[in-house]
Amino acid sequence: MKLSSVVGGRPVKGAPGGTLSSVNPARLDDVVAEVALGDAGTFVAACRAAREAQRAWAEVPAPVRGRVVAAVGRIIEANKEALARLVTRETGKPYAEALGEVQEVIDTCDFFLGEGRRLYGQTVPSEMPDKQLFTFRVPVGVVAVVTAGNFPVAVPSWYLVPALLAGNAVVWKPAEYTAASALALHDICVAGGLPAGVLGLVLADGERTFAGLEQALERGLVDKIGFTGSTAVGARIGELAGRHLQSPCLELGGKNPMVVTPSAELAVAIEGALFSGFGTAGQRCTSLGTMIVHESVHEELVARLDAAVAAAPIGDPTQDVLYGPMLDWRFAERFEGYLGWIAGHHKTLGSSGLGRITAANPRRGFVGDPEAGLYYHPVVVDGVRPDDRLFMEETFGPVVGVITYRTMPEAIALANAPGYGLSSSIYTTDPREAFAFRRGVSAGMVSVNNSTSGAEAHLPFGGNGRSGNGSRQSGMWMLDQVTRWQAMNWDYSGRLQKAQMDVARLEPDLAFRLHP
Ligand code: UN1
Repeated sequence: MKLSSVVGGRPVKGAPGGTLSSVNPARLDDVVAEVALGDAGTFVAACRAAREAQRAWAEVPAPVRGRVVAAVGRIIEANKEALARLVTRETGKPYAEALGEVQEVIDTCDFFLGEGRRLYGQTVPSEMPDKQLFTFRVPVGVVAVVTAGNFPVAVPSWYLVPALLAGNAVVWKPAEYTAASALALHDICVAGGLPAGVLGLVLADGERTFAGLEQALERGLVDKIGFTGSTAVGARIGELAGRHLQSPCLELGGKNPMVVTPSAELAVAIEGALFSGFGTAGQRCTSLGTMIVHESVHEELVARLDAAVAAAPIGDPTQDVLYGPMLDWRFAERFEGYLGWIAGHHKTLGSSGLGRITAANPRRGFVGDPEAGLYYHPVVVDGVRPDDRLFMEETFGPVVGVITYRTMPEAIALANAPGYGLSSSIYTTDPREAFAFRRGVSAGMVSVNNSTSGAEAHLPFGGNGRSGNGSRQSGMWMLDQVTRWQAMNWDYSGRLQKAQMDVARLEPDLAFRLHP
């Protein structure tokens, strides 16, 4: 399969940014697609085409745009297994997770299709007679969306679906190593009735995309940026957007804490730790970073977690496994770097080896052939300290740290210390602890007796600090990212009525007192 960018509704010819093979990370000899990459010029051309297409799209009545979103959801539903199989093949995430990811796109379409008939503005009383006030939601214009490959269709849909529904055109730059999944979502949007050019797809590497974004902003072709990816790149995008007086929607990394209190049901906490620490091979922005465990339950929790991780099936993502390979070479290489942060004062648990799973470094119970893909041992690192890099930095991959605490304020301080603030979780049966944690934690998302992963598609998703700039995705909150409020006042009195100055006043008697 040969893929290229789509600009103005047409595939782009040539490969000014070179070519790339999108490879199945579970079977490295399986090439999913040959990808022709674009460059900065491709990105600018896509923005220009989007600018042209946007005006007519914004004229389509919102309920009709909502029907397009409805059709996209139904087409995805009809192709659910095929799309999930492609996501598994291209990312290596287990098929069950891929089905969940595709369901998240359907949920997002279901939420926003009704918004086409809502997209409410307000009628507001004026302070003067014969005058009426209104508010309208106005599409921002062209939305540039840059997304990561760990959720190649669900996370993009959080931007694409509401942005399109609200009457914007979108230029989407997916991760180039999940280009086939991206093109599938693009094609489904077109099949749903989206007019040509309203959704552009740019397949390009990060640096060329950044250059294209810079040029497009200079030419006034981009009105909003949505970015999901690393904190470092998010900071660069925020800086660039700020120079153009724009506030981007940034969804960045996380070092998501899980507090386990003395009253926790340990079996439930361990289930949550397995899923959020090792699901998607630990490559979610919501993945569990550090377990913050009360010292009274630490020993038992670590022993049980060690046993559970050691027994978990890992391997071929088409089988029933906890997780499969790393997403791509670059993630495998980076993960090896993080493993280098494990130091003498740490104790590693959870597997029969450390690092890449091979014939010489086997994992007991591995499902399939480890040498075929980019598979890594899971690792639980006990004895983590607050000044460890393992504690302070996001470690995208199958590693979970464990640290202990004595008091709830100490647990909250540890949860906040790395300065991220995406997701968080607490296991407790004491409501006072649950609410103390909610109040104190800096995260945008808090789970009680559930893991740090697995946000539902209609709650605000996003973080603070190193996890983002406070923007939120998903649900109705996303509408504030992709629309702007326009205030209108209509004076039909036939004369100039000056606000604040020409306002009638009914004199009160402020000295009035009751004399009971
Ligand atoms: C991400 O990793 O960027 O909450 C998104 C979750 C998923 C989305 C993760 N619903 O884990």
